[in-house]
Amino acid sequence: MERALTTTTGSAEETAKLAGCLGALLGPGDVLALIGELGTGKTCFVEGACRALGYGGRVRSPSYTMLNIYRARFVVYHFDLYRWDPQAGEVELGEWEELIAGDGVSFIEWADRLGGWLPAGALTLRLAHAGGTDRRLELSAPGPRLAELARALGIDRERGASR
Ligand SMILES: Nc1ncnc2c1ncn2[C@@H]1O[C@H](COP(=O)(O)OP(=O)(O)OP(=O)(O)O)[C@@H](O)[C@H]1O
Ligand SMILES: [Mg+2]
Repeated sequence: MERALTTTTGSAEETAKLAGCLGALLGPGDVLALIGELGTGKTCFVEGACRALGYGGRVRSPSYTMLNIYRARFVVYHFDLYRWDPQAGEVELGEWEELIAGDGVSFIEWADRLGGWLPAGALTLRLAHAGGTDRRLELSAPGPRLAELARALGIDRERGASR
């Protein structure tokens, strides 16, 4: 069973702040898959994380281009695969794999569109509407990484939620 950290945020600001705490822990080669319905805060989270990575510019879902590249402390690849067609996109997948395997930090909105393909070390954040402006966030990571993240995010792994 995959372990996960869960918490609820009550505003976009709160989500961005949490993202900043996580972003500060990301480094070259890290991949965060963001999975959740429209408007759950995936881009909001990426923006918060990018701020912590030293990028002050505009962060928006790259809906049509599918990939934005930011020059932060590390290069940041911001994918949005909402409109990506897996059947037509094998070439793209090959190019992306190379980028993702490199020295950047990758954020992939709608990563579920990739099917089974994701690097083994990827972190996964699932986001869901939880009434009004509440959003349920669930972070999973392989092995010991999750304990490190739990400490940094102030989320008690045993109890699960921080509020
Ligand atoms: N707790 C919250 N966390 C994040 N965003 C929130 C929250 N409450 C309200 N919002 C609002 O919800 C919207 C989230 O938009 P955002 O673009 O981040 O979603 P998204 O998941 O990236 O959507 P899309 O799939 O269309 O790219 C924003 O307008 C934000 O202000
Ligand atoms: Mg988005």
